[in-house]
Amino acid sequence: MTNSRQPSQDSSSVDLKSKKKKDYAKFFTAPNLTEAKKRGREAIQVVDFPEIPEDLKQLGKEKHFYLRTYGCQANEHDSETIIGLFQEMGYTAIDDEKVADVILFNTCAIRENAEDKVFGEIGRLKHLKKEKPELVLGLCGCMSQEESVVNRILRSYPHVDLIFGTHNIHRLPYLLQDALFNKEMVVEVWSKEGDVVERMPKVRQDGLKAWVNIMYGCDKFCTYCIVPYTRGKERSRRPEDVLEELQELAEQGYQEVTLLGQNVNAYGKDLTDRNYSFADLMEDIRQIDIPRIRFTTSHPRDFDDDLIEVLAKKGNLMEHIHLPVQSGNSDILKRMARKYTREHYLELVGKIKEAIPDVVLTTDIIVGFPGETEEQFQETLSLVEEVRYDLAYTFVYSPRVGTPAAVMEDDVTEEEKKNRLYRLNDVINRIGREKNEALRGHVVEVLVEGESKTNPDVLSGRTRTNKLIHFPAGKEYIGKIVHVKIIEPQTWTLKGELVTKVGV
Ligand code: 5AD
Ligand code: SF4
Repeated sequence: MTNSRQPSQDSSSVDLKSKKKKDYAKFFTAPNLTEAKKRGREAIQVVDFPEIPEDLKQLGKEKHFYLRTYGCQANEHDSETIIGLFQEMGYTAIDDEKVADVILFNTCAIRENAEDKVFGEIGRLKHLKKEKPELVLGLCGCMSQEESVVNRILRSYPHVDLIFGTHNIHRLPYLLQDALFNKEMVVEVWSKEGDVVERMPKVRQDGLKAWVNIMYGCDKFCTYCIVPYTRGKERSRRPEDVLEELQELAEQGYQEVTLLGQNVNAYGKDLTDRNYSFADLMEDIRQIDIPRIRFTTSHPRDFDDDLIEVLAKKGNLMEHIHLPVQSGNSDILKRMARKYTREHYLELVGKIKEAIPDVVLTTDIIVGFPGETEEQFQETLSLVEEVRYDLAYTFVYSPRVGTPAAVMEDDVTEEEKKNRLYRLNDVINRIGREKNEALRGHVVEVLVEGESKTNPDVLSGRTRTNKLIHFPAGKEYIGKIVHVKIIEPQTWTLKGELVTKVGV
């Protein structure tokens, strides 16, 4: 590993501005399971973000950018880096796209409806681009990593000026310069993941809660999921870099950090120079003076006893675990390539509950996976009843081009899939309400985030278990950790009253 060289550009990277439009597509690698799985275990280079050249720092003088982010926390956090890069170039953020000089969409590819929204937005902006030809319209994030998306833009949305992917965000200043000074669409998407780039500029959007990447990519290849193709192979950041970032956040007074990774439980497996796991990282993070540490997302397969042991020590490690199950039926789990069974999952849940009795478990569930029968769906319902999640994110299966599940036979109608989603949500909401009801009269620790959206006399915050709670109190409590008594539990939120103050 080296710290000195510049971030490399993968040999398959392409800057197609000099090519004819019809030739663009052949330079891209489609999400392809066989090809993607060939990725090796070679050591990833860790490099520092290089200083931006002076001329590029002047690029955005007196200019404005408008950034819209879709999708998960990884994207939200990438956007904090993108904002940092824009600011390094002298740009100012603006909320009104009509007066922006650059409009950028940081996109999500996880389900079709996320993509449809983006295509709708790009189409809508055609008029604005016509009125204002100097406007730069760009697309980045997971959709850019899909060949089918890039082809569709080349074909049907030629007013787009810039496309870049998830692996080359650090190249934004150079790509933007290209887009500004060239008439052709600038497309640079690396089909293979690049280096881990440390110390990128970042403008965090919250002064209280921060996201910190601990790893990038995913090697799990669940058969329905596009992420391993759009985000590349698993690459862990070095523990010392993660810990240094957390230490800085502690010094800046951050009260909560969420550690991010597609599969945080695999953290460290790719670090060839040491034996260091996610449990080791959590043990080290426990010593850092940040009151609240969360993490997302866990994969049940890699969730080990060492981690349960560390989490049971609590302290600044919150007793909330998001543990996506996806289905309660072992055959469906097998076809999803989740690599665990219903029984293994329930055993893990049992162990977690035994070690952390007041743990709150939340999950992700997909209904209508190709060929899912009513009986198999019933097993998802019974698993939900058994685990008693406080909250679950539920989705109708959405085929993603290039993933194995997209070509599996599917005889379940859309209507039936929607019907399963309604039935599942009914059960989840009932249980969520019952779990909240059981908290009536309890006093909980709350990090106060700000005024409630609907009433300035009411504050909103989160419990250790990440439940949203509202209670009347003065602004002086914002940013503090206080004790609140739950007086009115509801399905998704709690209402309470201030009891004592902690750390005020
Ligand atoms: N269709 C529906 N839901 C999906 N997810 C991932 N891929 C798909 C898909 N193709 C869901 C999973 C995952 C969450 C982030 O999104 O439940 O855990
Ligand atoms: Fe997608 Fe998560 Fe499975 Fe990785 S572990 S393939 S991100 S669902």
